[in-house]
Amino acid sequence: MQLRGPRRVTAVLSTVMITLTACSASNGATAPTPAPLAGGVRATVAAALPGAAGIGDPDFPEDGNGGYDVGHYALKLAYDPPTKNLSGTASVRATATQGLSRFDLDLHGYTVHRVSVDDKPASFTRRGDELVVSPASPIAKGAAFKVAVEYAGRPDPVRESPNLGTYGFIPTADGAFVTSEPNGSKTWFPCNDHPADKATFDFDVTVPAGTTVIANGEMRAAPATSGGTTTFAWRESNPMATYLATITMGRFDVRTGKTRGGIPMYAATDPAFRRKLDFLYDTSARTTDYWATVFGPYPFKSTGGVIDDFSSGYALENQTKPMYGGFEPDANIIAHEIAHQWFGNSVSITRWKDLWLNEGFATYAEWLWTEHDKGVPAQKTFEDMYAVARAPLWEYPPGVARRQDLFNVSVYTRGAMTLHVLRRRIGDEAFFRLLRTWTDRHKYGNATTGQFIELAEKVSGKPLGDLFDAWLFKARRPTILR
Ligand code: ARG
Ligand code: ZN
Repeated sequence: MQLRGPRRVTAVLSTVMITLTACSASNGATAPTPAPLAGGVRATVAAALPGAAGIGDPDFPEDGNGGYDVGHYALKLAYDPPTKNLSGTASVRATATQGLSRFDLDLHGYTVHRVSVDDKPASFTRRGDELVVSPASPIAKGAAFKVAVEYAGRPDPVRESPNLGTYGFIPTADGAFVTSEPNGSKTWFPCNDHPADKATFDFDVTVPAGTTVIANGEMRAAPATSGGTTTFAWRESNPMATYLATITMGRFDVRTGKTRGGIPMYAATDPAFRRKLDFLYDTSARTTDYWATVFGPYPFKSTGGVIDDFSSGYALENQTKPMYGGFEPDANIIAHEIAHQWFGNSVSITRWKDLWLNEGFATYAEWLWTEHDKGVPAQKTFEDMYAVARAPLWEYPPGVARRQDLFNVSVYTRGAMTLHVLRRRIGDEAFFRLLRTWTDRHKYGNATTGQFIELAEKVSGKPLGDLFDAWLFKARRPTILR
């Protein structure tokens, strides 16, 4: 998503592009200066070329796609738990960032029945997890366009991957557990499946009556039941990374209301976790309000949490609706997932190697919560961690998360330790001003580790290269403690 208005293609430009397609060889090349058109108008357009199959993240070369930027997903889906059939239409509104002869969406599994671009039938092929779409005529650079994909089939989540567990659209006995970090959204809708391309979402999901659908954001209308099915309409109106999208469904007990600070709340538990509903509700509300005083205003229109009975072994900070998979969350993990709403969800990473910007910050939030709630100083937590000679902490530099071990404990704990040492170096006043400046400056956008270091130096007025180098990038235990 880019914050600028769409530009329209003119018939003239489309024609020029078709002519130029033939004479451009490599992806990303620009056309030679075009000849003057009839009437003396000189058009400067890039050639229409295939969009790249990946967005350009070296650790995840197939994830996301090149050549366009998504602004909005409208997902009209139906799911039938007994047969595990997911079907419907995904409409994707995007802007071309180059002239496009064709482009990819990420999609894993399913039968694709029909694809259209701007309501005209488009041809398509499947190549692994790439859905390759060829519009009837090329799309001009800068043009807004809409792709609609009609598809159906049985979801095939990513199962037991060596370091990521099971994720994506995971069918359960009564519905589905839907958590997609890092790249599982392609297991339920065609998308640009990388956090560098954020977009707003509308979800219209139809399920058997009695089933509850929980998606991101707020309900656009009350659930509507007719003929044995119920349709839920949810909208996330702030930009969201694809991995934070969810349509978790099943039998749920729900509690809604507002936090003391006035933010609308939605908490839900699977019947197996009913006894934790009030704790989930109260703690999610309390941590949301508290973080707003520490990190800056809460960035979204509602907050909450969901406990489902699928034992994923992890929680995920799904935007506005963190999800806990088959366990009773304690206050620390709730504080962690709520902190992600600022760090990860509103301010998102641009490349997966910068994951410590999410996990290091959310882990440091746990330390801050323990200090606030239990009176245990963050300094004490830091010393305990520094004393534990856990090998991965010192061998794995958290500033460069690796694909084959993305969620290594170092990205979490040593990431948090980095922030603590930074806090000691620059002092509390500058440190918390830095956090609030960071969440404000990159609100709803994407950022990098380099930008954080730069801002830290600017806000504090101190050179910090030695500190970040030792704590984020060296494969040994740092000796710099402040
Ligand atoms: N971001 C989650 C957290 O805050 C972890 C997600 C792990 N994802 C996975 N597929 N294992 O802890
Ligand atoms: Zn986390």
